[in-house]
Amino acid sequence: MSHAANDLSPVSETLETIYQPICHELDQVEESLREEFTTAHEALESLVQHGYRLGGKRLRPALVLLSAKACGGLTEDHIKLATAVELIHTATLIHDDVLDEAEIRRHQDTVNARWGNEASILLGDYLLARALCLASSFETVTACRVIAEASRVVCEGELCQVVNRGNYDLSEDDYYSIISGKTAALCSCCCQLGAHYAGADTATEAALYEYGQDLGIAFQIVDDLLDLSGQEERTGKSLGTDLVKQKPTLPLIRVLNQLDETERKELTQKLAEGETGDRAFLKPWLEQTDALEYARHEAVKRTQLAVERLENLPSSDAADALRNLADFVIRRRH
Ligand code: IPE
Ligand code: IPE
Ligand code: MG
Ligand code: MG
Repeated sequence: MSHAANDLSPVSETLETIYQPICHELDQVEESLREEFTTAHEALESLVQHGYRLGGKRLRPALVLLSAKACGGLTEDHIKLATAVELIHTATLIHDDVLDEAEIRRHQDTVNARWGNEASILLGDYLLARALCLASSFETVTACRVIAEASRVVCEGELCQVVNRGNYDLSEDDYYSIISGKTAALCSCCCQLGAHYAGADTATEAALYEYGQDLGIAFQIVDDLLDLSGQEERTGKSLGTDLVKQKPTLPLIRVLNQLDETERKELTQKLAEGETGDRAFLKPWLEQTDALEYARHEAVKRTQLAVERLENLPSSDAADALRNLADFVIRRRH
């Protein structure tokens, strides 16, 4: 698989094993992505190709392909769909790194660190436009509509997060609403499109959509845990930015809800004043509460729900891979 050949984006053994049923198609997606990250303008080449060189886990293409295969109808269409969703995902990451002022992404400099915010915003838009071009090359408008709709919801999620910066009274429900938008919407879109273009019936398409939604929520909870307690060498991206950018994520919301009023005031004041230094600052607070285990348990519950959504799928290696992905989401360190 071409991931293995790309030493800039190490895919864990585990993930590579899970992707086995679709490894040939993923190689085709990789080739198609390489073509999309191009430009006729020589002066832009290194910038545009940086997006491709960044690599990544390719989770969203895998969701499209596995969902299609689990529905018994993986075709050439899915290669295009998988390429389009990865373009959208990469665009959101490039924009997200501007918002978070992140310096490292996928083990390399972020686009903003190397080329600045202006180029990052435009490169993100460029990739979004390329994705929509691909999505509009189908006979039906479904691909375009579903991808555009998911992109809208992702942006709403990110916008809700921005307007809730520093809001340490954010409820768990509001947190879930944010991550359902910014992360889960694209995952459910991938699974839905995989099923739809495989000719699945409405109930199966809906079940896969729900699987993607639950998986995406668990994925973001674990990402938020990694932001507080993961290793940058493993994740290959800047961590601790949620605290710096005053984003209340599930573990922090849990910490705050478990403190008495005086302690809560003390902590929110420190967070609001940005006196957090690095993320080690939060460690004693995390240790004195059950926040980390609580958030992990909530992620586990979501992946269990995700797996339950698959119960009516006929047995296949692709359906098993979707189940194993749920397990990977919980165990992942990157
Ligand atoms: C990062 O997504 C953004 C989140 C939704 C947490 P991934 O962790 O899938 O990023 P890559 O594609 O592997 O770099
Ligand atoms: C996910 O949020 C961003 C998008 C879904 C675009 P994060 O800000 O947590 O993502 P990372 O941690 O930078 O990858
Ligand atoms: Mg970020
Ligand atoms: Mg994060």
